[in-house]
Amino acid sequence: MKLTYYGQSAFGATVGGKNLIFDPFISPNEQAKDIDVEKLEADYILLSHGHLDHVADTESIAKRTEAPIISNYEVVTWYGNKELKGHPLNHGGKWAFDFATVKYVNAVHSSMLPDGSYGGNPGGFVIWNDDVSFYFAGDTALTLDMKLIPMTCPKLDFAILPIGDNFTMGYEDAAIASEFIECDKIIGCHYDTFGFIKIDHAAAKKAFAAKGKELILLEVGQTLSI
Ligand code: NI
Ligand code: MN
Repeated sequence: MKLTYYGQSAFGATVGGKNLIFDPFISPNEQAKDIDVEKLEADYILLSHGHLDHVADTESIAKRTEAPIISNYEVVTWYGNKELKGHPLNHGGKWAFDFATVKYVNAVHSSMLPDGSYGGNPGGFVIWNDDVSFYFAGDTALTLDMKLIPMTCPKLDFAILPIGDNFTMGYEDAAIASEFIECDKIIGCHYDTFGFIKIDHAAAKKAFAAKGKELILLEVGQTLSI
């Protein structure tokens, strides 16, 4: 599969022949100014929670592509009121889509939509099919709930974890998370976008290396083949 980084927690992924977009906060992000949101292909849009730094471009992408939104019930309902289609999940629930099975898992964070509406409880996604299995954590603290992932889902090939601290776990806790989820290949997100979450890249990689884990920090626009 191919994974492309669009800054903050925004990623594009090709999974099971479909184009997925995760947490599209692209056009307001100065670091992603070279990414043309109008050109992104999407068959599905996955939203971890309702915060603006995860949902900003959702409406424009969904309108243009007619991609359904996969998120929690409250977020999907909010977009449903704007005539955008979606598939609601809630924590612990999974659904077999035409590209993979998607399970909505716990995140320790908060969730509010851009107009102040209640955004339900925030989450992450574990996504698997016969070819690949991965975890997109969304915004979260380190939590013991992560230990449930290897107990309930296929072995992860990689995971996308927030590492920027302040609003989510920092890289030290994320390195512990990589042990909880029993995953050796971690792609960092939710760092460097604004002042509170600027990190030391070398120190972050060292924290993972000390546990025998690999931390990959992608450039905005960079694509990884996995
Ligand atoms: Ni958030
Ligand atoms: Mn965030």
